[in-house]
Amino acid sequence: MLKHDNIEPTPRTDYVAIKDAKSYAVVVDPSRKLGWTKNSIEPWNENRSEDRIVEVLTEQVSDAYLAHLRKIGISYIFGGKDRLNFTVVVEKPKNLFAIDKLKLEGGGFLNGSFLNEGLIDELSLILVPIADSASNSVTLFERAPF
Ligand SMILES: NC(=O)c1ccc[n+]([C@@H]2O[C@H](COP(=O)([O-])OP(=O)(O)OC[C@H]3O[C@@H](n4cnc5c(N)ncnc54)[C@H](OP(=O)(O)O)[C@@H]3O)[C@@H](O)[C@H]2O)c1
Repeated sequence: MLKHDNIEPTPRTDYVAIKDAKSYAVVVDPSRKLGWTKNSIEPWNENRSEDRIVEVLTEQVSDAYLAHLRKIGISYIFGGKDRLNFTVVVEKPKNLFAIDKLKLEGGGFLNGSFLNEGLIDELSLILVPIADSASNSVTLFERAPF
């Protein structure tokens, strides 16, 4: 539960907690649904290093959430006032953290949003022969209602 009392108003400027991590997880969380308790995602095998978290937010986020992220050492960047502009979202990691390569691991809405802004230059697709009976299944590229 976030503490909302005695929180100073916070300017909506990007916050860099650390900029020399080996790898990062840039996490799109416009509605700030993610309740992080630590600032990194642990490696899941011995060939990987931990990913330091960078949250992508809109300016509608609460001051309390920003205070929480700073307290636990999570960097955050703003991708728009009310809606995300993904061209901005991919430029900031390069400028602020020297991230040259991004692997997009979306569901269909995130994938479709990047495709619409011409931000995908390579596609890796695994086709698996499974029959899915749900008529409302999310496809590889969706048009986001956001
Ligand atoms: N690699 C994979 O195979 C892979 C990866 C991920 C998901 N999936 C599958 O894909 C399906 C859909 O998953 P999903 O809907 O969670 O994935 P998604 O398309 O990645 O969307 C995740 C969240 O990203 C935010 N988002 C996406 N597009 C946005 C936009 N244009 N503007 C602002 N926010 C945007 C929304 O956050 P808010 O809700 O906070 O607004 C949305 O809920 C699921 O069946 C999932 O299992 C597959």
